[in-house]
Amino acid sequence: MKRVLSGIQPSGQLHLGNYFGMMSRMIRYQLSSDLFCFIANYHALTSIRDKEQIQKYTFNAVCDFLAVGLDPVKTTFWVQSDVPQVLELTWLLANVAGVGLMERSTSYKDKIAKGIIPNMGLFSYPILMAADILLYGGDLVPVGKDQKQHLEIARDIAIRFNNIYGAVLVVPEADIDQHTMQVPGIDGQKMSKSYNNTIPIFAPEKTIKKRVMSIITDSTPIEKPKSTDSTLFQLYKLFLSEEKCIQLADRFETPGLRYGDIKKELFGVIMDYFTPFREKREDLLNHRDFVLDTLRQGAEKAAVVADTYLKRAREAVGLIF
Ligand code: ADP
Ligand code: TRP
Repeated sequence: MKRVLSGIQPSGQLHLGNYFGMMSRMIRYQLSSDLFCFIANYHALTSIRDKEQIQKYTFNAVCDFLAVGLDPVKTTFWVQSDVPQVLELTWLLANVAGVGLMERSTSYKDKIAKGIIPNMGLFSYPILMAADILLYGGDLVPVGKDQKQHLEIARDIAIRFNNIYGAVLVVPEADIDQHTMQVPGIDGQKMSKSYNNTIPIFAPEKTIKKRVMSIITDSTPIEKPKSTDSTLFQLYKLFLSEEKCIQLADRFETPGLRYGDIKKELFGVIMDYFTPFREKREDLLNHRDFVLDTLRQGAEKAAVVADTYLKRAREAVGLIF
């Protein structure tokens, strides 16, 4: 059985892009594979320096994942820093990862271009990410398109390590879905919390409504057919079966459609879809002990696998004699 592994940084409110690009796909995999899922709080330290914020976001991200359907019995689910072995592997990998490889990281270059003064955590972010995957022998890594390069770096590091030390590490593969790899935000760019263009799934109903009603549309007159390339269509489509999608396309192409009506309809669809998750999340937030206990058990399960891969890597480089 394939090991499917992915993680998410606890860095703010979850949005439709996170949900469709990564989380819902992870949940689907739990039926057919050995699923490993974690909250990347070490990674969040590269951008958040507030202790309470890290704590709160981490706990919330855990509840978010459980609320959308992650089953901690079927899955190995943990907080990254509860298995600190990942940092030792990061060091072993750092010694085979070229500086040039890190310098080519577009997400690093983008951050510098935005004026962020880089620290070594940010620079070596992709090495820690590679260690996250390689420490658990992950075969397949479901992510959105924006993580593609990080996955290429992880593969590159694994291949280099194996070339030097023998076949120790599993070389992972990115699992990117064509239909959901880049969910657009309300302004038509990639949906991302850094662009302030998200539709958050656990925000107050009023906020969600406001965001949906602000989805960018063109000025095609009512009596003309509307484009199915539009952001509104692309967002609505996420919730529809193939058959329903064809019906919606038909409505878009038939003169008379009002964008405002479609937005109201989409808001209703979003609320219907996420209401059960929103209720479950409220319940989890009020059952802290249960959540913490689940995480403790998850970290124990994860550590067993981590120790096996780390031991192999330590032996391979000559730390055990
Ligand atoms: P953000 O861009 O909002 O900071 P993250 O980088 O925390 O989001 O992404 C967490 C996961 O969600 C990653 O696997 C990422 O690829 C995926 N993801 C984020 N935004 C989108 C999007 N707009 N479309 C598809 N997947 C996305
Ligand atoms: N970098 C990923 C993101 O921002 C989070 C992440 C950290 C991750 N380690 C990982 C994703 C390992 C997949 C596998 O979304």
